Amino acid sequence: MNTIISEYGSDIMSSERFLHAYDITHHYKSCVAEHSLHVADQACRITGWLNSHGFHVSYEDVVRGSLLHDIGMTDTNVSECYPWVKVYVHPRHSSAIAENEFRENPVVQNTVRWHMWPICLIPPRHIPGWIVIAADKICSFKEIAA
Ligand SMILES: [Fe+2]
Ligand SMILES: [Fe+2]
Repeated sequence: MNTIISEYGSDIMSSERFLHAYDITHHYKSCVAEHSLHVADQACRITGWLNSHGFHVSYEDVVRGSLLHDIGMTDTNVSECYPWVKVYVHPRHSSAIAENEFRENPVVQNTVRWHMWPICLIPPRHIPGWIVIAADKICSFKEIAA
């Protein structure tokens, strides 16, 4: 386990909500929890690269946004939707959970809410949002192709 992920995300990873995400299948052979951990790891690598090139991106925002970006899939009324409906509705559920259950700051909320860009038409407002989008796409392709 990437130590940055444990440093900033241990409360999320040990929460009942996240543990339930191990039961939700995602990308055929993965689950929401494992996918989110892959995204957090990939997003930390991207953040490390950016920060070594003059950026000052918050690892905390990146880790928490990654771990929570698909957490809305654990809501029963999302997990039981048709896949194409799920694509559109899960970010709204994820950001509501980020705000109401984990009290995330506006950067993390925005990162989670708009992580499906360009499928959702509104892009994220902050760099962690763009990092999570990139990491999510890379990990999703890898998981689907595995
Ligand atoms: Fe997603
Ligand atoms: Fe995802």
